[in-house]
Amino acid sequence: MSADNHVTLVEVGLRDGLQNEKTPVSAEQRAQWFNALVHAGHTRLEAGSFVSPKWVPQMAHTDTVMAQISRPPGVLAEVLVPNERGLDGALATDADVISVFTAASESFNQQNINCSIADSIERFRPVVARARDAGRRVRAYISCVVGCPYEGAIPPTQVARVTEQLLALGVDELSLGDTIGVARPREIHALLDAVLPLVGGSQLALHCHDTYGQAIANIHAGLARGIRVFDTAVAGLGGCPYARGATGNVATEDVLYLLQGEGFETGVDLPAIARIGADICRHLERENPSRTGRALAAMQKEMV
Ligand code: HMG
Ligand code: MG
Repeated sequence: MSADNHVTLVEVGLRDGLQNEKTPVSAEQRAQWFNALVHAGHTRLEAGSFVSPKWVPQMAHTDTVMAQISRPPGVLAEVLVPNERGLDGALATDADVISVFTAASESFNQQNINCSIADSIERFRPVVARARDAGRRVRAYISCVVGCPYEGAIPPTQVARVTEQLLALGVDELSLGDTIGVARPREIHALLDAVLPLVGGSQLALHCHDTYGQAIANIHAGLARGIRVFDTAVAGLGGCPYARGATGNVATEDVLYLLQGEGFETGVDLPAIARIGADICRHLERENPSRTGRALAAMQKEMV
């Protein structure tokens, strides 16, 4: 299959997902799930974040998670950092990718990291430089690329401005986040019209949440525009504390089912992911929002 048919999934469930789950999960359990997800074929996975445990207690002890995971060469463990203090924690581990995060919406950024967009860019300047000096790859997230819970619709030009600032810092990859899951394909196309001329498809990822059930359609639009990296969460874990009703990331299971049907290759084993997703849902005592996950579980029950 041609390289154009290869899609990389960045599994964000153990960070973006668990950071929003009410049930706390031990570092040991998080590491076990990480290892199982690697075994199922993922090559890029978020292991957690080095943020204030007062703000996000679910992500405390990410250093322990990092110490307990194992991965073959070529499989990347990724962590989120908001500032140099977080970077110090991340650099004390063997995390391969360091992710910084800001937003296209001023109000959301204030709520999330307690500073303006401009201040966040200044905060990231030494973080990006030091991470790269240490030989780590750097990813940057932009949240609220289509809509914001406080400001409503976000114009693509605003996302383009933040994109330019992050590229100037020297980040390797940009992940465009529809944080509250309000985007539709037409809006994704308008966003990519503004951003693709600045960055090119190979440095871009789409990060879709599924609040309005449009994430699969949005990913399909991204594929049509040449995007080949998508962030997904096993069992659609997560939500957004700043947007009432916002759901988690699009489920890895649902995206894998789409990609298989469209002839894309990921190296990730869908039935294995569905089993891990079901296990995580049992552990967290929550419904499985993945339609594909539920369908596969029902089929497995029938076969027993
Ligand atoms: P602050 O209160 O403005 O900063 O928080 P501060 O520098 O005054 O620090 C406050 C306290 O936090 C101090 O402790 C610091 O030492 C400590 P105290 O003196 O009160 O005991 N602190 C830290 N502790 C551990 N690790 C650190 C760290 N930094 C300071 N790195 C700060 C600013 C950024 C720290 C805070 O707002 C924070 O941690 N926010 C986390 C936000 C977060 O994790 N949000 C979720 C991730 S973003 C996301 O999910 C979106 C994404 O998925 C894409 C999408 O969907 O759009 C990526
Ligand atoms: Mg997210």
